[in-house]
Amino acid sequence: MTEALCILLLQVGSINGRYLLVQQPQLIARDIYKSFRMGARRIEVLRGISMDVAHNETVFLSGASGAGKTTLLYTLAGLERPESGTVKFEGRQLYSGRSAAEARLRNKKMGFVFQGYFLLAELTALENVLLPAMIGHCTARAGAEESLAAVGLADRIHHLPAELSGGEQQRVAIARALTNDPDIIFADEPTGNLDSKTGNTIMDLLLNLARDRNKTLLVVTHDARLATRGDRQLHIKDGILQ
Ligand SMILES: Nc1ncnc2c1ncn2[C@@H]1O[C@H](COP(=O)(O)OP(=O)(O)O)[C@@H](O)[C@H]1O
Ligand SMILES: [Mg+2]
Repeated sequence: MTEALCILLLQVGSINGRYLLVQQPQLIARDIYKSFRMGARRIEVLRGISMDVAHNETVFLSGASGAGKTTLLYTLAGLERPESGTVKFEGRQLYSGRSAAEARLRNKKMGFVFQGYFLLAELTALENVLLPAMIGHCTARAGAEESLAAVGLADRIHHLPAELSGGEQQRVAIARALTNDPDIIFADEPTGNLDSKTGNTIMDLLLNLARDRNKTLLVVTHDARLATRGDRQLHIKDGILQ
């Protein structure tokens, strides 16, 4: 994050006449409601979710399958418009209707590791990692190669996803989330499709990258053991945070 942006995020408050610098949370969600219509039925997935995430914080979100974890993560990342409620990221309101500006904000400031890797099968590891940079009109081949090296895949950059193991595909997905050097990384069940040993290694990688590069990390997992490794744990049940 640039210094100017940091300063913008600092708010001056006064207690007993003394001025203090108070940093706003990076992500602020208030009263989020979201439901889906399935034929005649309406499923209420998020029923009034409010949460804050601080800069550089690592937060784990758990909950049963179908509890709304992915829906919440998408909503926080500007990918799923809530029916009501607000999401503010680094002082800017998401879903304000200025979709081009929001897409730019997402592209530059947010990295997303999607559930089930979500790699494009026709593209090599390197091309998959370059994709967010191409969308953002940046030339970033060196950065993409550096990201792939950081996840331990320097010698696999020209492989297609089908030529990579599950753990390696997840590493590519993590490297792609690092493209454009975002401030926050959202990861949706990054260990979900992996055996426990590979899953542990991937979680170590994600936590170390976030710590070393000063990134906020919001991870969905249903592995209670892994969820203890962050700064804070949230649990979603019946559409609300417990
Ligand atoms: N686009 C959609 N259309 C209809 N129902 C959806 C859609 N996305 C999610 N759902 C439903 O919302 C609920 C929560 O889904 P999801 O957020 O994916 O849960 P989780 O990630 O916790 O497993 C599920 O019942 C799911 O079927
Ligand atoms: Mg999910």
